[in-house]
Amino acid sequence: MSQRETWATRTGFILAAVGSAVGLGNIWRFPFQTSANGGAAFLVVYLAAVLLIGIPVILAEFAIGRRANVDAVKAFRTLDRPSWRFVGAIGILASFWTLSYYSVVGGWVTRYVAGSVTGNALAAPESYFGAVSAGLPAILTHAIFIAVTIGIVAFGIERGIELATKFMVPSIVVLLLVLAGFAATLPGAGEGYAFFLSPDFGVVAENWQSILPAAFGQALFSLSLGFSVMITYASYLGRDDSLFADGLAIAVTNTFVGVLAGLVVLPLLFAQGVPPGEGGAGAVFIAIPTALAELPGGGLLGQLIGVVFFAVVFIAALSSAISLLEAVVAYAVDTFGISRAPAAIGLGLAGFLLGIPSALDTAWLDWFDGIGVTFFLPIAVLAVVVFVGWIMGDEAVAELRRGSNLTSAGTTWLWMLRTFVLLVVLLIVALNFNDLFLT
Ligand code: PHE
Ligand code: NA
Repeated sequence: MSQRETWATRTGFILAAVGSAVGLGNIWRFPFQTSANGGAAFLVVYLAAVLLIGIPVILAEFAIGRRANVDAVKAFRTLDRPSWRFVGAIGILASFWTLSYYSVVGGWVTRYVAGSVTGNALAAPESYFGAVSAGLPAILTHAIFIAVTIGIVAFGIERGIELATKFMVPSIVVLLLVLAGFAATLPGAGEGYAFFLSPDFGVVAENWQSILPAAFGQALFSLSLGFSVMITYASYLGRDDSLFADGLAIAVTNTFVGVLAGLVVLPLLFAQGVPPGEGGAGAVFIAIPTALAELPGGGLLGQLIGVVFFAVVFIAALSSAISLLEAVVAYAVDTFGISRAPAAIGLGLAGFLLGIPSALDTAWLDWFDGIGVTFFLPIAVLAVVVFVGWIMGDEAVAELRRGSNLTSAGTTWLWMLRTFVLLVVLLIVALNFNDLFLT
């Protein structure tokens, strides 16, 4: 067999991981989760979740991946704990599951780029969304989106994913900065900032049973944790650089983009008097165009901003979708010896078929999203934390120390995983199960 691929550069790995992290979660889910869960107070809980849980867990997935240098299932064989393969398997299943509906939303976004060019998306937002988000049109754009995803993954790590994300991630940041600058000039933007940036902790105290799991779930989903994606991406690391530094850079950039997206979306909605609403799959696709249509300039300004905005969402969604497909493809390639291109095509096609219910009816899409984020994700993260904390233990610390000179930080990290992180993740799993099955 030929030599396994690696990232060409350290920056390439970081950008690919940021590309995975930054996605619909930041731009579509985050501002609406924030508004549905009490605004700024949710943001504070989310930031705490990223710092205290997200960063330790991303390092845990990196340690597994870089040590094993193989797909997320075989990794546990390579690490001499074959009975723990289920951990990687749950993540891969979660990736495949999520790819199916993520691509459906990616398809809507593709449609909205075109709809902003023509102006149709802004003319009658509610009926436009109804027309493009269900039935045959949705299946068609879902097919287009997943075909592009397959195309990039088929080219492999260096010539596919690394090359693509090297252009995509900087574009997302630059364009969002431009949009945030524009949003700041809107009359009423201050109301949006206030909602986003001045916390009311009374709301959290009253609703912690729902806000905690929502914020922690959002933090983990946003960092692509519990999906075997970060295990897989780290498995293509050829050299030993500091995983601490890389993990931190990825988490900081991802959070920055999430906040930046909020600084675009919320001022826009507030300035135009469009209530952020209660979320749900369609919210951003109706509320944003409604707000855009109200901009001065006879609709043209709204169209222009709409094209840029949905282009950003498209790029962000695509760079995440390729990571979801890659986690599954790596498994087919490494464990079964299938060639990359046929694996990408076959598995992408299967993901397309699984996504058809979500394309036909957004109620299915919400259901898929709910199961993925509240069921698969917490269980997989819990399993990763137990495995790295209590089974790998010192071996994981040794792996983390390769390429970094932070000696005591490794031990601190391990004990955080073993105790605090484990307890919090258990609590999240319990709250989610209570919500899913007992109420
Ligand atoms: N992190 C991505 C987002 O926030 C979603 C994602 C989850 C991508 C898991 C890959 C793996 O949109
Ligand atoms: Na992305």
